[in-house]
Amino acid sequence: MSIFYKFTNLIAFATLVSNSTCQEDTFLYDTFPPGFQWGFSSSSYQIEGAWKEDGKGVNIWDTFVHRIPSPIPDKSNADIGCDSYHKYDHDVSLLKYIGAGVYRFSLSWTRILPTGRIDQINPAGIRYYNNLINLLLANGIEPMITLHHWDLPQPLQDLGGWPNENVIQHYSNFANLAFHTFGDRVKKWITFSEPNVMCLNGYITRTYAPGHKNVNEAINCARNVIISHARVYRIYDRVFRPLQGGKVGMSLSSYWLQPKDPQNPEHRKSAEFWMHIEWGLFAFPIVFGSYNDETKQLLGKLRKFKLTSAPVEFTAEESVEIKVLNIPNYTNYESKDFLKCPHVLQILGSYDFWGLNHYSTYLVEPTKVTTSILHGDFIGLFLGAKISFDPTWPKSAIPHTPSVPWGFRKMLNWINQGYGSPEIYIMENGYPDSPNTGLEDVARVKFHRDYINEMLKAVKIDGVQVTMYTAWGLLDCFEWSYGYTVNFGVVYVNHSHPERPRTPKLSATCLQQIFSDNGFPHENFSPLKIN
Ligand code: NOJ
Repeated sequence: MSIFYKFTNLIAFATLVSNSTCQEDTFLYDTFPPGFQWGFSSSSYQIEGAWKEDGKGVNIWDTFVHRIPSPIPDKSNADIGCDSYHKYDHDVSLLKYIGAGVYRFSLSWTRILPTGRIDQINPAGIRYYNNLINLLLANGIEPMITLHHWDLPQPLQDLGGWPNENVIQHYSNFANLAFHTFGDRVKKWITFSEPNVMCLNGYITRTYAPGHKNVNEAINCARNVIISHARVYRIYDRVFRPLQGGKVGMSLSSYWLQPKDPQNPEHRKSAEFWMHIEWGLFAFPIVFGSYNDETKQLLGKLRKFKLTSAPVEFTAEESVEIKVLNIPNYTNYESKDFLKCPHVLQILGSYDFWGLNHYSTYLVEPTKVTTSILHGDFIGLFLGAKISFDPTWPKSAIPHTPSVPWGFRKMLNWINQGYGSPEIYIMENGYPDSPNTGLEDVARVKFHRDYINEMLKAVKIDGVQVTMYTAWGLLDCFEWSYGYTVNFGVVYVNHSHPERPRTPKLSATCLQQIFSDNGFPHENFSPLKIN
């Protein structure tokens, strides 16, 4: 399997790179297949506010943003955020107005379990999510839940957080409760949103909670996330799926990594290697049950430099949990007898769909610079790769996030070709601008229009199975290491006003039209008039 995997991937990467200009500039007039789902994504910490109301416990972001000095540039926090805890009905009205058919939101673990543990359940937290789910359904909007979007309960952080394997049991208990409580109405679940960013920024760059700088913790965080994901996937599979019939996946973010000079084999090799690392820490294990060779190489190096003691392999048991779905006519999973007879196993990964978060593209080239790996772009430097951006790419309010729509199509094709054509849900895609932009957010209109058009090409021309697109985000809310200095929303929120009033921007009208047209059926599509 691994030789086949390598071979198809090499060919795939070469093709993706060499076809780099294929229909990049031509707008495609067409629609998505019937049943394509459109909507928005959000996360509890960023939007809910009410950080210590109605019995909610403290999470690691509550602790992080209240540090002195503040780790956030504008010294802000999401104590109030967009106040969606009190204004979720406004949010649902906006979703309905724009024509969303699906809304992905995350559960605040400590709103439901204030200590993070299962022995103390907060009824107000359960009530809040029940109200939101019921209101969405009453408005014809499908609720989709992310179980964890970075706001780990502080008491679990005090025990070591994600790097400590005891978190696996706590997370499984929480997930079990969520499936049990909401699963009669919620049929699509994301176990983790961007754990790659959570582990890297939380445990190496110090930019996210809990703000540590420890490679070993980051690698163990990643490992425990995979094992937690797999365990929860199996719980759903064995206990809840037969009754509830839903789907479970993870949401991973990735830039498209384009060789700076596509004609230069060294640049191609460097971009490809890094791409395998991007997907090697989480996606590859979930699909194939082990780390890929590139990730093993990286982990091996980290071990050699004594930066981690984490194993480069999963144990046989872990591997089975991660990738084996089903043993025909077998019920005694607890005995682990099945490890002795691998030939009867039906090997499938622990995912029902791929959640992809995609925003931008990097140019990659090899470098000999040997800056300390704990500064700057740790993986890039450690792999001997350097990133840059084409100066002609339209910029955004975040320096490393220019708008590069064609990279989206390449990213989708790469997953399609390297990971066996999975069903893909776009769980995040959005454009950061400055809070001074106002309601005429032309750059965001172009961003969504052009990225969605590239996604359309991937679906209609290349045959990639994308079946859902949820934009990030609906509202201008707290942005992790930027506070309120950048905006992602298609709806403006006035954070100086105690009521946090919401006003749709031009981009809301653009998405409203794309959603209702299910794509771009004709040339008199008004957002096209914007150049
Ligand atoms: C990544 C995260 O999932 C989300 O919380 C964040 O606001 C957006 N992408 C934009 O950076």
